[in-house]
Amino acid sequence: MTRDPKRYTITAALPYTNGPVHIGHLAGVYIPADIYARFQRLQGKDVAFVCGSDEHGVPITIKAKKEGITPQQVVDKYHAIIKKSFGDFGITFDNYSRTSAKIHHDTASAFFKKLYDEGKFIEEVTEQLYDAEADQFLADRFIVGTCPKCGNEESYGDQCEACGTSHNATDLIQPKSAITGAVPSLKETRHWFLPLNKYEPFLKEWILENHKKDWKTNVYGQCKSWIDDGLRPRAVTRDLDWGIPVPIEGAEGKVLYVWFDAPIGYISATKEWADREGKDWEPYWKDEETKLLHFIGKDNIVFHCIIFPSMLKADGSYILPNNVPANEFLNLEGNKISTSKNWAVWLHEYLEDFPNQQDVLRYTLTANAPETKDNDFTWADFQARNNNELVAIFGNFINRVTVLTHKYYDGIVPEPSTFTKIDEKTLTKLKAYPSVIESSIERYRFREAQQELMNVARLGNKYLADEEPWKTIKTDEERTKTVMFVALQIAATLAVLSEPFLPFTSAKLKKMFNFDGLEKLPNWSSLQEISPLLMEMPLGRGGLTIAKSELLFSKIEKEQIQAQLDKLEASKKANEAANAKVEPQKETVQFDDFTKLDMRVGTIIEAEKMAKTKKLLILKVDTGIDVRTIVSGIAESFTAEEVIGKQVAVLVNLAPRALRGVESEGMILMTETPDGRLVFMNPDTSGVGNGATIN
Ligand code: 2FM
Ligand code: ZN
Repeated sequence: MTRDPKRYTITAALPYTNGPVHIGHLAGVYIPADIYARFQRLQGKDVAFVCGSDEHGVPITIKAKKEGITPQQVVDKYHAIIKKSFGDFGITFDNYSRTSAKIHHDTASAFFKKLYDEGKFIEEVTEQLYDAEADQFLADRFIVGTCPKCGNEESYGDQCEACGTSHNATDLIQPKSAITGAVPSLKETRHWFLPLNKYEPFLKEWILENHKKDWKTNVYGQCKSWIDDGLRPRAVTRDLDWGIPVPIEGAEGKVLYVWFDAPIGYISATKEWADREGKDWEPYWKDEETKLLHFIGKDNIVFHCIIFPSMLKADGSYILPNNVPANEFLNLEGNKISTSKNWAVWLHEYLEDFPNQQDVLRYTLTANAPETKDNDFTWADFQARNNNELVAIFGNFINRVTVLTHKYYDGIVPEPSTFTKIDEKTLTKLKAYPSVIESSIERYRFREAQQELMNVARLGNKYLADEEPWKTIKTDEERTKTVMFVALQIAATLAVLSEPFLPFTSAKLKKMFNFDGLEKLPNWSSLQEISPLLMEMPLGRGGLTIAKSELLFSKIEKEQIQAQLDKLEASKKANEAANAKVEPQKETVQFDDFTKLDMRVGTIIEAEKMAKTKKLLILKVDTGIDVRTIVSGIAESFTAEEVIGKQVAVLVNLAPRALRGVESEGMILMTETPDGRLVFMNPDTSGVGNGATIN
């Protein structure tokens, strides 16, 4: 690869089409990929940025079964939702395709067929897990069991989400069918395997030797551990009825493994785009001067670094990825994002609550991107980033510049006169930013790049605060013009540099600064030529009319944040209720045994915390029979003051026992909420006095 590639093929992981997309997807994959693609386009580079819906695989079949609809209906529904969300958030795919498209079926079938014809697969009859009750082989997510590596009891057949290991279904300990819950049997079936072991020498040289330095350590580390563990042949076909039929005779009822067909989806999406644009797709995948990059999440590393490259190598006519900048995971308010538990911020719902505020989310997610470790999204941080950074730094600077330009000069950029040392120093600093940001982006450090962008706004604020045009306007008109001219150039620079990160804001700024009225549009490279002497400024020599300030960012109030937290709390509650484990019924007792228990209505009349204990309260309870002492383990759920006066159910004939030296004569009946909070079994005792029996 030359230092300056001829073109870029940028892929972003094809999302599974069994649910909408959430902030974790955006932060981990689509925003970094979009920043990178936008940045290259701004440099005038030839870019194909492709993605599409991953519409095959077991999760889609499971979802369809659950909802009583067909897999096609599932993917049609979510493909539309996902595609719209990406569009709404300004993800600039050149093509967003789908793997149920004919062009993809044709491309993936031809890919398989070529490798098959060239003898690149091993054909083997092996014993696979089979659910006799459902009359179905159990591939991938149709099987759950204990992960042989980390012991997670809910690992899927193909991958363990707890430790990220990818395995064969038959490796699972105590496997169970996800369809019927039955223990599967083994049944013979014929499949085609890609002998990954044969590609070990190639992978060792390509990754372990050539990419040790330029791949991220998390990516390199996972690859190394895979290769060091020894690679085994991997089945690329499945006994399923949803997917791309295996295109050879004698393979009826079998489809391509979803992880065989999905990455080929990048190629199909490029073809579809090239057809539409009247271009040739092949250089984007076959010319060594193309830089191929896969943006993915960490759970996809093995597929993009080991399996897909081995497929491309087996074919022989494709280039290999230059880099696979995989991110770690984003958590939400301290917990793992989960579609099934509805612990997520869904993109379409975000826009309902924060209309037109895409850039705020883009900004927050990049500022917290899980680039080197898992990271946490919190609504408090979202609010702080908006109010303290976007509003107070970026928006405030632009607002001051435009308002003053209108106040002093009716919106016309003033002509400068003499530049002072400070002006020159400021402009020299400004000129350095494009390459500083570029260097971070080229190393896939998008957080760092965005911080540098904000430093441009900080530079502008500091310049205004130091030069105080609102004061000089009273004493020195010429100086004020120069100061405003410099400040306007900083603002115009922000309009260009913010495009990859805050595209909606950048578009507003370009409109405000009337870029269309300029002879030469400022772009990333021309910004590096800013020079006060040559007057090569983003906004030219002055004289351009700028529009009044549009609102860029507005303060987010605490009520808006609370509403989001309440939404999450409601999800949590709903989950707890759904997951609450009901204890199995105890052994049967005879009626006589039951009547031996003497339960009464009583009232707590005194309560105090037992010293040196966490859980115990010493209660005085009026049972109607007497007033007695009961020691109760409820102090973690109630204070002493809270329980005084409560009417409760009491087991009065429990044999007395001493707790920490205090004799307890009975037991208060309680129950527990799913999160472990105790609740009194309050009898509905209106009109019932102490001592009434419960039976
Ligand atoms: O993890 C996922 O969501 C997969 N659907 C990603 C597929 S990436 C590619 F290979 F298509
Ligand atoms: Zn595991």
